[in-house]
Amino acid sequence: MLASDVDAVHALDARAYAHPWSRANFADAIASGYVCACLCAADGALMGHMVVMRGVGEMHLLNITVAPEHQGQGLGAALLGDLVRWSQAEGAEALWLEVRQSNERARRLYVRSGFEAVGLRKGYYPDGRGREDAVVMRLTLPPAFGTIAP
Ligand SMILES: CC(C)(COP(=O)(O)OP(=O)(O)OC[C@H]1O[C@@H](n2cnc3c(N)ncnc32)[C@H](O)[C@@H]1OP(=O)(O)O)[C@@H](O)C(=O)NCCC(=O)NCCS
Repeated sequence: MLASDVDAVHALDARAYAHPWSRANFADAIASGYVCACLCAADGALMGHMVVMRGVGEMHLLNITVAPEHQGQGLGAALLGDLVRWSQAEGAEALWLEVRQSNERARRLYVRSGFEAVGLRKGYYPDGRGREDAVVMRLTLPPAFGTIAP
């Protein structure tokens, strides 16, 4: 994802979420050196995006989005799979994320991908009437094939 992609990414995010990220959130993520990736069709059309923050020995998935018209075709699972392989290659031992308690589709995808729920952040997200809890999920990553233990 480049700075020039931010308008399109923000527009897609606004179609996919009731509470989307702002344009500035994406611009700040790129400026901060977060891992920001676009998922594009062969003709270059934007189909989804992902934002990941590096930590010490771990990665934190901040945003994963597939355009509504492309959901349910395995693209979310494929994006997560790429993230897992890349995180392992980077030497990360765990992947973390937060997800709205009501976002059952995303939670199912994460569980299918090996994440486990390890905590709850009370009132973490805004919602229409007040605040909504976040489920904290973690995927423990085995070392990548070929990694040499210290
Ligand atoms: C959550 C999200 C990223 C998942 O992406 P996706 O591409 O729809 O995910 P997948 O296609 O891999 O899996 C979703 C469903 O499609 C099904 N599916 C996957 N491939 C399929 C195929 N070829 N044919 C039919 N169904 C298929 C999966 O079994 C899954 O079913 P389930 O929801 O009943 O468990 C996407 O729905 C999204 O962007 N949602 C809005 C933003 C959001 O909530 N992001 C997560 C914030 S934490």
